[in-house]
Amino acid sequence: MTFSALGDDTRLLIRRYFIAKYQKEWWEKQGYEKMSLSQLLDAVREQHEDDYGILAKLIVTKLVHGNGDEAYSERSANIATAEREFNVTPPVELDEPMEFFGNTFANFVSHPKVTEAVNATVMWANQTGPPMLLLAGPPGVGKTHLALSAAKHIVDAGGNCIFKRESTLIDSIRTAMKDGLNAEGFIDSYSTTPRLIIDDLGAAALTETMRSVLDQIIDARWQHAGGIYTMVTTNLTGSQLPPRIASRLNDATKSKVVRIAAEDYRKRER
Ligand SMILES: Nc1ncnc2c1ncn2[C@@H]1O[C@H](COP(=O)(O)OP(=O)(O)OP(=O)(O)O)[C@@H](O)[C@H]1O
Ligand SMILES: [Mg+2]
Repeated sequence: MTFSALGDDTRLLIRRYFIAKYQKEWWEKQGYEKMSLSQLLDAVREQHEDDYGILAKLIVTKLVHGNGDEAYSERSANIATAEREFNVTPPVELDEPMEFFGNTFANFVSHPKVTEAVNATVMWANQTGPPMLLLAGPPGVGKTHLALSAAKHIVDAGGNCIFKRESTLIDSIRTAMKDGLNAEGFIDSYSTTPRLIIDDLGAAALTETMRSVLDQIIDARWQHAGGIYTMVTTNLTGSQLPPRIASRLNDATKSKVVRIAAEDYRKRER
């Protein structure tokens, strides 16, 4: 595949990015447009390390979203391949500071009230359980800790996992809409990415539009559950969850629900 195969809009974006940064003459001198994509990426990685991420992202976005007619599962496989090939996303996309990633299965203190949640999360991370997992429960019972443990476990095994709080996930889509960017692209990638964790569902105040975006993502992930894996944590009880989302996460053929009834770990005696 060559640069020209990316199509006009993506080529223009890439060209514009580099020309804005390094001037037109520079761009023309590089001869990047005549290279194959992998040569181009190699060249940029070698010479302009800080541009590599953005370039790879542009290309992968195109590869992933440019194939609108393809079967859904193929597209999701494409994302995984493209991400691997171009090393475009960090293996885990976290919106927490890295030190928070110190939450692991190993340092989660197991006790009878959380055993089921631990087992279900380990199975989800190993893809040996149902493809969807909902951890529900009051504050401080370890839902986020377990979700981050799952992400870390997947990454340690060489996989990719996106971990997003509901609020950040929605913010990125809202910002894209506001800036006239391709919001559909964001929605699509959250709908198809092989492993997605949405932390704290129901915590953000959502507009109707954003609520329906979230519905759309969960619905897509439920439809294709098995090919793709989804984990959700929430403070909400069954009846407080938005009905369309609840109905999918409660589908016992595809999803496991664990309600954790433990004490708030934040309030324990030290
Ligand atoms: N069983 C446990 N072993 C070790 N640490 C725990 C355990 N349960 C909770 N913690 C710690 O307690 C704190 C709160 O846990 P966590 O953030 O996972 O709660 P949560 O269920 O996500 O709460 P919230 O609903 O408020 O988001 C974290 O620092 C977490 O690491
Ligand atoms: Mg939490």
